[in-house]
Amino acid sequence: MTFKAVEIAKDVYWVGAIDWPLSDFHGYTTYRGSTYNAYLVVGDEVILVDTVKKHLFKEMVKRIASVIPLEKIDYVISNHAEMDHSGALVELLKYAKPKAIIASQMGAKNLKMQLHNLPEITVVKDGEEKILGGIKFKFIETRMLHWPDSMFTWLPEREILFSQDAFGMHYAVSKIFVDENDRHTVEWEMAYYYANILMPYSNLVLKLLERVEALGIKPKIIASDHGPIFRGNDVTWAIQLYRKFALQEPSKRAIIVYDTMWGSTELMAKAIADGIVSEKVEAVLLPLSKTKRSDVATEILYSGAIIVGSPTINNTLFPSLADVLTYLFGLRPQNKIGAVFGSYGWSGEATKQLVEYLEKMKIPIIGEVKCQFVPDDEKLRECFELGVKVARELKNICGEKQNG
Ligand code: FEO
Repeated sequence: MTFKAVEIAKDVYWVGAIDWPLSDFHGYTTYRGSTYNAYLVVGDEVILVDTVKKHLFKEMVKRIASVIPLEKIDYVISNHAEMDHSGALVELLKYAKPKAIIASQMGAKNLKMQLHNLPEITVVKDGEEKILGGIKFKFIETRMLHWPDSMFTWLPEREILFSQDAFGMHYAVSKIFVDENDRHTVEWEMAYYYANILMPYSNLVLKLLERVEALGIKPKIIASDHGPIFRGNDVTWAIQLYRKFALQEPSKRAIIVYDTMWGSTELMAKAIADGIVSEKVEAVLLPLSKTKRSDVATEILYSGAIIVGSPTINNTLFPSLADVLTYLFGLRPQNKIGAVFGSYGWSGEATKQLVEYLEKMKIPIIGEVKCQFVPDDEKLRECFELGVKVARELKNICGEKQNG
């Protein structure tokens, strides 16, 4: 039979779906597809934790059916109402008649507004415990991680944490555990997901990590709703990575995000990078002709500075810059410094607009270079010096003595 369940712990099964061709998740480029993880807990009764995206309903159903008939599902827990986890719920209810659908208060409200025609939903409070099928379940609200409705489901006796989006990644894999996959890819996809989905809520992530510790929750398994599952030592690694991502501590790395019309802005970008590198600080050029907005978000998570450059076109900045800066504004990166640059023919409004974007993001600007038409050696020297200035400031912030 196709689409079998995978037992991830005794009587606990992964019954999700793999979205291999997914290339875009609400504006986020997913190079490696994704998975929507649903889990089946089989005790004296049967509990389904989350569902999948609507179009993959049949895949989930077949995996469930490889363990038990659909009509044997007694409870459905909805940890998160976003449609990649709730989309298949209405379809499921045509075949399964659970005694209760369980969600947070906000989850119940959001599910009804999104899916309509749902039966009454059983609301659980933050910290509430329930015995379902002879197994203890504890529910912990994780508001805004990722939506206001989100919650964790914790199985204390099994030491399994169902964490919905938290600790997830858009990474389609056929090997279910993190330790069966390439670690560097896992870390990159985890950072990629964090930057694009959870970065705006970094302060809440830190509070949640503290709370999980205070509650004495020490999972043996973290099973999120996307990508492979953490077990054993990888659980500690995942928590440490999340703490690192959420702290967004400045690093000696600067990204230069730019677009170019006739190559002048690009020449300036390269000269700025040379200045940065001359101070032994890493510079990463991100030309928007080939860099996706979600890549920029991930690169900024690992960087201490963002330098943005745009030519002026029709009295405004290049549309690619407006796109990426609008996106970054929503993601609210913290602890960055900034600088701007750009070339122009006769009016030169773009750099002023770049300044406005960075100011709106509360990123302090430490320098600006403008160039009319094509940069000569003197202008390129100015760009180089801007790079040096950014690099020295980064070293200063990172607590290292300047080289000269
Ligand atoms: Fe995976 Fe916020 O949904």
